[in-house]
Amino acid sequence: MEKLKQIYEGKAKRLYETDDPDLLIQEFKDDATAFDATKRGTIVNKGIINNKLSEKLFILLTDKGIPTHFVKRLNDREMLVKRVQIVPVEVTIRNIVAGGMAKLLGLEEGIVLKDAVLEYHYKEDKLHDPLINEYHIKALKIATDKELDTIKKYSFMVNEALKAFFNSKGLTLVDFKLEFGRNKNKIILADEISPDTCRLWDKETNEKLDKDRFRRDLGGVEEAYQEVLRRVLE
Ligand code: TMP
Ligand code: ASP
Repeated sequence: MEKLKQIYEGKAKRLYETDDPDLLIQEFKDDATAFDATKRGTIVNKGIINNKLSEKLFILLTDKGIPTHFVKRLNDREMLVKRVQIVPVEVTIRNIVAGGMAKLLGLEEGIVLKDAVLEYHYKEDKLHDPLINEYHIKALKIATDKELDTIKKYSFMVNEALKAFFNSKGLTLVDFKLEFGRNKNKIILADEISPDTCRLWDKETNEKLDKDRFRRDLGGVEEAYQEVLRRVLE
């Protein structure tokens, strides 16, 4: 597989074309940002950890019947993925109140929700990824009714699969963010699944083992990412 032109650089990843028009190389960087990139830093080896974690979790989700862009991991920092047109919506699922939901509704972090909450955020940093609902998505033709049904169905399937998996590793899945894309007119899961995009708390102590350690200057950031990888791969 030949690595050709870089076609995209985001905050945490780069995408390159390959000699196959349907396949891209996704490279994971160590760069970390928060609050729409107003806070910037580096998490040493984050790219390697998130590449390996995403590999493991995409394979798990594929086995549960959720189609993803993952094809195979190529090396420490790169995976081969299917080319998608990203749907510009971040899907957040929450099992426990934290972060944005705590702030939006003036709630304490840690309240266990009776049912999982699904949110859509329009993917536009300049607007701070505003919260939108299904009516916005349909009226603005961001996705069709059928695509949105698929996105919703897959998102809850991901939640069930990841909740059970992380629980078996001594981790509570508090919330997470997914991105979907279109490949050959089908909706598939894209982007990454990692401590950048999930809140993970130790099941016994509720210690935060995710990017909140960076966002909130809690220290031990690299160690937390390493610990998640260790548990997930054991
Ligand atoms: P939030 O509580 O800040 O809305 O975050 C919800 C989840 O989404 C959390 O697990 C972190 C993840 N997330 C991202 O992956 N990217 C983002 O830009 C933001 C704001 C959150
Ligand atoms: N990565 C996001 C940003 O820099 C925010 C976050 O994950 O908190 O905007």
